Amino acid sequence: MQKRLYIQTVGCQMNVLDSEMVVAALRQAGYGLTHSVEAADTVLLNTCSVRQHAEDKVYSLLGQLRTWKRAHPDRVLGVLGCMAQKEQERLLDRAPFVDLIVGPGQLCRIAQLLAAVAAGERPQLAVSLARTAGPRAAIRRSHETFDPLRDPTMRPTPFQAYLRIQIGCDKFCTYCVVPMTRGPEQGRPPDDILREARVLADQGCREITLLGQTVNSYRYDQDGRSTCLADLLERLHEIDALARLKFVTNYPRDMTPRLLETVRDLPKCSPYLHVPLQSGSNAVLSRMKRGYTVEQYREMMHRIWDLLPGAAVSSDFIVGFPGETDEDFQQTVTAVREFRFKNSFIFKYSERAGTKAAERLRDDVPDAVKQARNRELLVLQDAISLEDNRRFLDTTVEVLVEGPSKESRRRGAEGPILQLTGRTPCDRIVVFDGPLRHAGALLPVHILDTTPHTLVGRLQPVSVPPDLVQLQHG
Ligand code: 5AD
Ligand code: SF4
Repeated sequence: MQKRLYIQTVGCQMNVLDSEMVVAALRQAGYGLTHSVEAADTVLLNTCSVRQHAEDKVYSLLGQLRTWKRAHPDRVLGVLGCMAQKEQERLLDRAPFVDLIVGPGQLCRIAQLLAAVAAGERPQLAVSLARTAGPRAAIRRSHETFDPLRDPTMRPTPFQAYLRIQIGCDKFCTYCVVPMTRGPEQGRPPDDILREARVLADQGCREITLLGQTVNSYRYDQDGRSTCLADLLERLHEIDALARLKFVTNYPRDMTPRLLETVRDLPKCSPYLHVPLQSGSNAVLSRMKRGYTVEQYREMMHRIWDLLPGAAVSSDFIVGFPGETDEDFQQTVTAVREFRFKNSFIFKYSERAGTKAAERLRDDVPDAVKQARNRELLVLQDAISLEDNRRFLDTTVEVLVEGPSKESRRRGAEGPILQLTGRTPCDRIVVFDGPLRHAGALLPVHILDTTPHTLVGRLQPVSVPPDLVQLQHG
């Protein structure tokens, strides 16, 4: 009988992609997906360690699953991803009923590990080597990329897909656990990436987002030839069925003129750049070991504005990093005012065991201060995002239609016309009314209203061919 798998994903896009791969691999091994824990005979949690909050969520889920496991001891419970790599056996101390622990660099063995559990060999622990556990080549080998098959049913929409071009990270920002959980930075071979992109295009995919922790640092050397992200984009651009190419997340120091010129010159490349600044204070950036100053980031922003006028830039910020004073924070506020990001993801500093910051710097900013700074920055960013969005009022933008909007799905709306959602080339969310059959199409939408995070519009009459409509670079 077919086994039933329930999988829950916490964390970043890399985890969403890993879960897609796990499902694809397990379908081949005879599993089917279920959306209910009660109906499942295997439950997998794909986890995140980037902040304590994400780990707490998983421990709380495990707490709930204890009863499920007690009621059905023959069923299988697994923890995958960054927490598996970071916590290892410690997970078993807190949740001894877990059957399997698999780090992100070992997911290629998932089917085999589940078979071992089924044969009574439990718990199974599959993790990669620590960054200091041996010769560099052995450590690299122990973190394996896992990109075997694609499963369109696991994607939020069949028209959009993530494609991993790089695993790991070598930047070692002092607050960050990722270089430990995901191992050394390694680029995937360009031919593998191209092959996978063609498979995705054949599956009906119109938009591909290339993924890497520092995606613009991508490099692959073979036979004396080096391939960088700009080279990859040029090759991917030739795949006819693809309409849009995006890439996240960028590292400020590797935002080269060549890459920006490539994005400018290739019409399928979205002029959307997520390049986290993290802090507007040089003292904090230095303690974070980010490898640049605010002045260098400003130079990069001028390069972007010069080469890609109209590009949308977004950022991440950490507030309440150890030693962050009110003045440091005000410098971050000033930076947000100056750079006018399309949007910012703002996080309260969370101390992570195993990082340099946890070893050397005291987490000395009280939570109430972190909270207040978080709120202040969010209010400012929302005001900027709203002002920015208002520029689109009464213009027409090109939208890749994704499907029913969150609101439609919440209401369980049905009928010939629904509220649909999609994105502009610059990654702005647009909602408008239209028939579901438009999902997957690139259509012109006239903007009538805005909020900080959404443009609200009306579909242009279909009798107007999109290429005759004056399109704004949304
Ligand atoms: N605490 C808070 N935020 C963090 N991030 C990474 N590590 C931490 C941490 N220890 C944030 C950074 C990064 C984003 C993915 O998560 O802003 O860009
Ligand atoms: Fe973490 Fe810094 Fe690497 Fe990003 S660049 S994954 S923040 S260490």
